[in-house]
Amino acid sequence: MKNRQWVLRQTPAGTLIQDDFEWREARLPVPSPGEVLVRNLMMSIDPAARSWMKMAIYRAQVMPGDVMHGWTLSQVVQSESPLFKPGELVECMGGWQDYALTTPDQMLRRDPRHSLKHLIGVYSITGTTAYHGMFEIGRPCPGETVLVSAAAGGVGSIAGQLARLAGCRVVGVTGGSEKCDWIIREFGFDAAVDHSARDFRDQLVAACPDGVDVYFDNVAGPVLDAALGIINIGARIVACGSVARYDSLSPVAGSSLLPSALTARRATMEGFVVLDYAARRGDIEHRLARLVAAGRLKAVVDVEDGFDRLPGALIRLLSGGNRGKLAVRVADLEM
Ligand SMILES: NC(=O)c1ccc[n+]([C@@H]2O[C@H](COP(=O)([O-])OP(=O)(O)OC[C@H]3O[C@@H](n4cnc5c(N)ncnc54)[C@H](OP(=O)(O)O)[C@@H]3O)[C@@H](O)[C@H]2O)c1
Repeated sequence: MKNRQWVLRQTPAGTLIQDDFEWREARLPVPSPGEVLVRNLMMSIDPAARSWMKMAIYRAQVMPGDVMHGWTLSQVVQSESPLFKPGELVECMGGWQDYALTTPDQMLRRDPRHSLKHLIGVYSITGTTAYHGMFEIGRPCPGETVLVSAAAGGVGSIAGQLARLAGCRVVGVTGGSEKCDWIIREFGFDAAVDHSARDFRDQLVAACPDGVDVYFDNVAGPVLDAALGIINIGARIVACGSVARYDSLSPVAGSSLLPSALTARRATMEGFVVLDYAARRGDIEHRLARLVAAGRLKAVVDVEDGFDRLPGALIRLLSGGNRGKLAVRVADLEM
């Protein structure tokens, strides 16, 4: 049995391209005592994968020759640990390969009664990032204006809906007029602004006539700069991610208003890493599941099929080609 793997061929020189990756077939790994062999079923495609090619950021840097890192939904094939048994569905860092070795402390048991789409999307770090960022840091109050960037993506689409459920007016920023229309129709954003429009800043000001009380920042760069120009006194900025910077070698313009805008508006900007909230994961998943079951939260997952699609999927995500959470299905759950 062979283990197909996508390996980083070279550290990308700017915008990610297919040639930055190469395909390799390795031997099936054999678990040692305490280890578990899993078969990866679905790969989560995350912007962080691009930043791991540049630096160690809450994970080791991916170096040329390394199998690409990535969260996976996986099924236990062979277990040399009493804590897991073959057939169980788990979440782990299986990486871009068919099979991976892992250990129980790196695995989270998943309930196969949920759809795999929900398990890779709203009940994964995607949904919990939106939840913690919005409620722990953003702390929206009814009637406030909440601005969300990358609003058509996995985290942003959920963060925006949660703010609406909290009684806020929610404005999304995304790329292109079609995606703007889509987030209003699909997720109920009150307004949407295209960050690629020439008059983006003017459109943003017009969409937020009462200023911005919470900015859920997924992108940094020029969108953050524009948001800083219209924040209200006491605004909270959630520093969730900085996609605008991940796929570029040169420094990205933006954020020139920091820190003076924070001072003038008595605002706060706070970063977080969702993994720090691991102890609360089950509780937050239940809350999200109740909202999904009640039809109050839409969890859109954009699924590509096939192991060969992995590099292209990450390239598509970074250029804004996804709608909702992007994932790649490589195998089916065996019952
Ligand atoms: N802090 C944490 O613990 C944590 C955990 C998970 C994820 N995150 C962060 O959450 C953010 C969203 O992640 P996700 O998985 O949901 O990805 P996503 O939003 O589904 O995909 C990334 C999106 O970024 C947008 N984008 C790309 N380049 C851009 C640019 N130059 N300017 C503005 N927008 C740009 C694109 O949408 P458009 O069409 O809108 O341009 C693209 O669809 C990322 O920053 C990620 O790193 C943080």
